[in-house]
Amino acid sequence: MDVDALTSLFNSLPVPHIRYFDTIGSTNDEALAWIAAGAQDGCLVAADQQTLGRGRLNRRWITRPGAALAFSMILLPTPDEIEYLGFFSPLGALAISQALENMLGLVPQIKWPNDVLLQNRKVAGILLEAAWLGNQLQGIVLGMGLNVTARAVPPANELLFPATSVEEVAGHAVDRLALLKAIVQSLFEWRSKLKETDFRRAWEQRLAFTGQWVRIEGTGKPSVTGQVLGIDASGGLLLRGSAGETITVTVGDVHLRLME
Ligand code: BTN
Repeated sequence: MDVDALTSLFNSLPVPHIRYFDTIGSTNDEALAWIAAGAQDGCLVAADQQTLGRGRLNRRWITRPGAALAFSMILLPTPDEIEYLGFFSPLGALAISQALENMLGLVPQIKWPNDVLLQNRKVAGILLEAAWLGNQLQGIVLGMGLNVTARAVPPANELLFPATSVEEVAGHAVDRLALLKAIVQSLFEWRSKLKETDFRRAWEQRLAFTGQWVRIEGTGKPSVTGQVLGIDASGGLLLRGSAGETITVTVGDVHLRLME
């Protein structure tokens, strides 16, 4: 990967500038700094290796050289889109899912709110971060990490949820650059439909564990258990509790576990 190859790859897409690093701390940190310095909508930061990659809930995200896709899209939401900020990380998950379907014929699922699974194992994660100046939103960073080769998958004892890679499931080598392009293309397509029912429907169609019993654990909050029903209009997870009641879980610092 190099910046020239990436630039020509994206010349048909609304990606005005690209920063590429063989090694970086975190592409999200670079993207946040770029927003502060005045980045345009659609700018992209990509790296082959991250030494301080970050995941949700302050976890580490390891990116080994040549093994993964690690990149951050800078998006400057329009006033209209600001109402839908909660939909941007599912947007990343949907873009990855659709690229895996279209390019490789795989069947990804989205573990609410935004982990991408293949065969019930995590293959990609999204870290959305917002840059605020006072109460003014400067932009958002949609950080995406995708395990492409088996070497990208951390050892089982370091994982909270089982993981896999695209190549392990596809059964053959995968062109990382072509996959990156397909993801970014799909991201722009779905971004234009963020407010449409189609977007939520596409997310819901790929929702993992539908009909199964799950436990939602929040930081410092009592856990909630229920059967997965779907997604509501605000992107919340709909569950049916043991007394038949409908429970809505809103996106926050929560994680979802399948019940044994
Ligand atoms: C998660 O599932 O916890 C989210 C993982 C997000 C990882 C990506 S890799 C590119 C970008 N840069 C980071 O430091 N994190 C995100």
